[in-house]
Amino acid sequence: MTRCGKQATRGPAPPAFLVLPLMLGACEGRQSALMPGGQDASQLFLIFMVMLGGAVVLWVALNGMFYYFTQVNRRHFALRHGNRIIIGAGVILPTVVVGALLAWGLSIMPSQRARGDGLVIRVNAEEWWWRVEYWPPGAEAPIASANEIRFPAGSRTELQLTASTYIHSLWIPSLGGKMDMIPGRQTVLTLHPDLEGFYRGQCAEFCGASHALMAFEAVVMAPSAFDTWLASQATPAAEPVTQDQMQGKSIFRREGCGACHTIRGTEFTGAVGPDLTHLASRASLAAGIMEVERDDLMTWIAHTREIKPQVAMPAYDWLSPEELAALAAYLESLE
Ligand code: CUA
Repeated sequence: MTRCGKQATRGPAPPAFLVLPLMLGACEGRQSALMPGGQDASQLFLIFMVMLGGAVVLWVALNGMFYYFTQVNRRHFALRHGNRIIIGAGVILPTVVVGALLAWGLSIMPSQRARGDGLVIRVNAEEWWWRVEYWPPGAEAPIASANEIRFPAGSRTELQLTASTYIHSLWIPSLGGKMDMIPGRQTVLTLHPDLEGFYRGQCAEFCGASHALMAFEAVVMAPSAFDTWLASQATPAAEPVTQDQMQGKSIFRREGCGACHTIRGTEFTGAVGPDLTHLASRASLAAGIMEVERDDLMTWIAHTREIKPQVAMPAYDWLSPEELAALAAYLESLE
């Protein structure tokens, strides 16, 4: 038995109202539907708060009545009084309240499903990472990225969602609701972020061994900064400069990494794994679970399947620490 379990047997559990603030502490931060950063999430947040407020009022009223009629005023009621209470509080009140909530919810649906008015981003769910393509208006070819979705603030971006093998679900709690990603068909989610910042997205549909490790960064930028960033993403990769970086590139070539990964501007054009052209400009590595820095890159390359069970990329554990460091130096230079 765990230490936790032993402690639990010693005395009564703490009252729920003492535990609740601790649990709510987990709702803060950049992956929280309670910290909305856009129009869609704000609407959902408002619905939640109204329903929560209503639930608290009902809970207090019901328990107040229960206490009053069992402890304070224990007289018998006539049958017609009882029937009135049942019909009023058990039939009419719920019908009105739930009906009003339904009407309100339906009135919000059109704006939750509104069409995008600018950028289109295609996201394909892979095992267990996200293939991302930006299609600015009028673009003939996409700008490829992975494991990070950037949005311009103040406009409605359309996310066209697909999946390769399993059903996944894209969810950025701070920006809006979730949408399933289904092999063989396309689903659409539009989001209108307002608040610039870094948010966290997470696959919200159990999809296999590494479901919990399938996250991503969602970055909301000022429109001008976004345009600058997107233009830089369209450029070919930086050439290696230092001895380390050059050695890293030759190891990348020697180990056949280019069979799975594309680095635009080089001979590496693989399409199986994430595009690495601007890997170092991303906020995370391995789909939201590590950082793009030397130690994490070395650890990831040498231990992929220990870190992310059943991932397609083999672990390159035969590389020496020096070779791993050189490879990491090259990847770190891909800004
Ligand atoms: Cu992908 Cu869960």
